[in-house]
Amino acid sequence: MVAFTISHIFLVFLLYPFQYSSSLSSLNKGSFLSVEKHAEDVLVSSNGTFSAGFYQVGENAFSFAIWFTELRNHNPNNIVWMANREQPVNGKHSKLYLLNTGNILLLDAGQLNTWSSNTASNDPLELYLKEDGNLVLRELKGTTILWQSYDFPTNTLLPNQPLTRYTKLISSRSYSNYSSGFYKLFFDDNNVIRLDYDGPDVSSTYWPPTWMSSWDAGRSNYNSSRIALLDSLGKFISSDNYIFSTYDYGTLLQRRLTIDSDGNIRVYSRRNLSENWYVSWQVISNTCIIHGICGANSTCSYDPKKGKKCSCLPGYKLKNYNDWSYGCEPMFDFTCNRSESTFLKLQGFELYGYDGNFVQNITYKGCESLCLQQCNCTGFQYTYKDDSNIFECYTKLQLLNGRHSPSFPGTTYLRLPKGKNFSKQESVSVKDHICLVQLSKHYFTKPTDNLVRFFLWISIAVGGLEFVFFIVVGVCLNKTKKKSSANQNSYHHAILGFRRYSYYELKVATKNFSNEIGRGGGGVVYRGTLPDQRDVAIKRLNEAKQGEGEFQAEVSIIGRLNHMNLIEMWGYCIEGKHRILVYEYMENGSLAENLSSKTNTLDWSKRYDIALGISRVLAYLHEECLEWILHCDIKPQNILLDSNFQPKLADFGLSKLKNRNDLNNNSTFSMIRGTRGYMAPEWIFHLPITSKVDVYSYGIVVLELITGKNPTLMNIEGEDGEMTYNGSLISWVREKKRSQCWVEEILDPSIGTSCDLSKMEILVRVALECVEEDMDIRPNMSQVVEMLQNNERVVE
Ligand SMILES: *[C@@H]1O[C@H](CO)[C@@H](O)[C@H](O)[C@H]1NC(C)=O
Ligand SMILES: *[C@@H]1O[C@H](CO)[C@@H](O)[C@H](O)[C@H]1NC(C)=O
Ligand SMILES: *[C@@H]1O[C@H](CO)[C@@H](O)[C@H](O)[C@H]1NC(C)=O
Ligand SMILES: *[C@@H]1O[C@H](CO)[C@@H](O)[C@H](O)[C@H]1NC(C)=O
Ligand SMILES: *[C@@H]1O[C@H](CO)[C@@H](O)[C@H](O)[C@H]1NC(C)=O
Ligand SMILES: *[C@@H]1O[C@H](CO)[C@@H](O)[C@H](O)[C@H]1NC(C)=O
Ligand SMILES: *[C@@H]1O[C@H](CO)[C@@H](O)[C@H](O)[C@H]1NC(C)=O
Ligand SMILES: *[C@@H]1O[C@H](CO)[C@@H](O)[C@H](O)[C@H]1NC(C)=O
Ligand SMILES: *[C@@H]1O[C@H](CO)[C@@H](O)[C@H](O)[C@H]1NC(C)=O
Repeated sequence: MVAFTISHIFLVFLLYPFQYSSSLSSLNKGSFLSVEKHAEDVLVSSNGTFSAGFYQVGENAFSFAIWFTELRNHNPNNIVWMANREQPVNGKHSKLYLLNTGNILLLDAGQLNTWSSNTASNDPLELYLKEDGNLVLRELKGTTILWQSYDFPTNTLLPNQPLTRYTKLISSRSYSNYSSGFYKLFFDDNNVIRLDYDGPDVSSTYWPPTWMSSWDAGRSNYNSSRIALLDSLGKFISSDNYIFSTYDYGTLLQRRLTIDSDGNIRVYSRRNLSENWYVSWQVISNTCIIHGICGANSTCSYDPKKGKKCSCLPGYKLKNYNDWSYGCEPMFDFTCNRSESTFLKLQGFELYGYDGNFVQNITYKGCESLCLQQCNCTGFQYTYKDDSNIFECYTKLQLLNGRHSPSFPGTTYLRLPKGKNFSKQESVSVKDHICLVQLSKHYFTKPTDNLVRFFLWISIAVGGLEFVFFIVVGVCLNKTKKKSSANQNSYHHAILGFRRYSYYELKVATKNFSNEIGRGGGGVVYRGTLPDQRDVAIKRLNEAKQGEGEFQAEVSIIGRLNHMNLIEMWGYCIEGKHRILVYEYMENGSLAENLSSKTNTLDWSKRYDIALGISRVLAYLHEECLEWILHCDIKPQNILLDSNFQPKLADFGLSKLKNRNDLNNNSTFSMIRGTRGYMAPEWIFHLPITSKVDVYSYGIVVLELITGKNPTLMNIEGEDGEMTYNGSLISWVREKKRSQCWVEEILDPSIGTSCDLSKMEILVRVALECVEEDMDIRPNMSQVVEMLQNNERVVE
């Protein structure tokens, strides 16, 4: 204690003369900020957005930091920079000096120089915090900047703060421990911006995925300027051609881009200091692909609803209950004796990296004995490769980056000692802090709400903010699309979603836009074939009125939606005036074509499946995703059928998303969207537009599906003479329903005679509920799904 004080006095003496600084806008030569006065000794930016000073990071531990000025308690989310993240200083006698030599020095009590700016100048200097969060040491006369915090980011970039070849972002160790963690974002030697896991024992790249070339990942490695920047409107551009726009792109908000301690890059936004942060973008939605996330000897499984889950492998136990990064350790002793080992089969389980051997065209027994030959082989992966028709064997030296997914083609065999029963149930499993968000079903009944309030609302509802969007986006963006095939392609698409094409590529793919297959309000659709032989439908939009950023934001929302009943977008093109969208090609055309075709082959079960599939995707868009994804134009023309006659909803909301901001504004939203014959009465009566407009249109489509009668034609013919808006098909069905044997009477003759009438009856009943005049009486889409699914189970 005495030594402490003496050394402190000694220091102060050394650094004399200092006057106490109470100037909060800047620090001049010879003045200091002191940790005891951490509440007052704060540099504040001119408009008060940012503050810099001593920030308490633990008991009696402080770091010199910059943070978004806050109202309430300390919130780790506000910190944007730290001078001494690895080495906090004592809560007594620590100071930040601007020395007369021109150096900034952070002194811990009793210890010299925890951190310094390594600057020197004889001129008068000032250290001040700019309104953009940049802490700058500059000459008072002249404009020379000697040092700025923007050049030394920690885990966060602020808008317009470049990431360069000289800088990198390193995650914090955990949410509350600001020391450097395991994940970093930087430009590699090939000019590509990437994410690495740099763990205590091993390191590896996880984004973009190593198994694909940077070119396939949509990156260019020719541009050696190595600069990436998030602008203040929410668009991120990197010189390797990696570009994204946040979901709230276009608004001036407080924003920060952070590499979180779980290795994901997220952009957070908020309006001002009295609001909560929400996640407006994240790079990786299936967080199980992040290396090291569950530690060694573990497995990560991802459920879009529940988030990520870590478990120890059978026979292993968790090392540290508070921190999964320590992984799991074996509960047994390894033995080299071949006859004492046995293998446990883990289906749909993949381990990345750390292979001892890789052998192709080998039998299972061969692979097993290969593993047994190596004392340190902990298991092996035995995979059948579809495309080359051979078996592959990978023996594993370490069990790292384990990932479980029912759709993985591979099987892993875990080496365990014989005679012990390590059943799978013995594994410990710990969920991370993800809560399921239930969105308000009536969001749009308050048309004054806006997107930001919406996010705020969920933030408040959840009480935390870190994982809010994780769920909302995770649910929407990460549904694994294909149930069965998990080949590299779908894997690829699940991770990267889609890519940007050049106009030339698409021109070649469509043979100069020669094969027109459709035409709509938004543009013309052509058939084409990509160089990798995938068939595509290419939609060339008419003159786009909106700005490029907005277009990209839309594309990035749509392109990352994933549902088996949603048409998949593979990419887009923006070049000059061209705005082109690239979709998967649907062999069986649209439902409308099928219904009107003379050779209609849609039997009752296909029709039932179509109704069920469309209800599922609408439930997904309305309820699992952000509720503002209303389709607004459900009709048979927009329902496409794949080779198995599975329905895929297309054209979803592009026209609506184009004017997404209108959703919040009743007057412009009252501009009628949709197609006559399928539109809900709300449009006519200027009632609030909710997801129930889609429910209504869905009901009409189902009625058309069953009766084969086109509601728009019925209206024109005025079959029932009433000419009520859009009511004729409905009232015709309602009327028929009064008689006996009504189901047979209304059925489309082309359905044929072998038909499950009870199922058709359920469909009609559900459809009639959906087309209730009063939107409050209509069921919501998940109720529809439930009614149809329950019925399916009972009947089969
Ligand atoms: C600071 O606030 C004033 C008034 O609100 C505004 O005009 C000015 O642009 C702001 N300055 C910065 C750097 O944001
Ligand atoms: C923070 O993490 C570092 C690095 O892992 C560790 O050395 C330190 O003890 C941790 N601090 C706290 C307070 O847990
Ligand atoms: C390289 O990237 C920078 C930053 O994105 C950009 O300004 C520049 O035009 C690019 N250069 C080339 C040759 O594409
Ligand atoms: C923050 O923004 C909200 C919504 O725009 C506004 O009502 C509030 O007054 C703002 N608070 C401050 C402190 O600026
Ligand atoms: C993981 O298990 C292996 C044995 O399979 C063991 O050697 C290693 O130490 C374990 N890793 C950790 C982090 O405990
Ligand atoms: C291996 O184990 C078997 C059965 O436990 C035993 O009979 C045999 O002697 C062991 N071999 C060696 C080399 O230890
Ligand atoms: C795999 O083995 C089969 C038969 O043993 C052989 O015909 C085939 O060429 C082998 N394939 C490769 C890639 O080695
Ligand atoms: C595994 O064992 C082999 C010899 O059987 C040895 O060459 C290799 O270094 C070992 N690897 C590890 C990671 O221990
Ligand atoms: C292993 O244990 C599980 C329950 O812990 C039990 O169901 C199973 O039958 C056991 N298997 C063997 C081979 O003992």
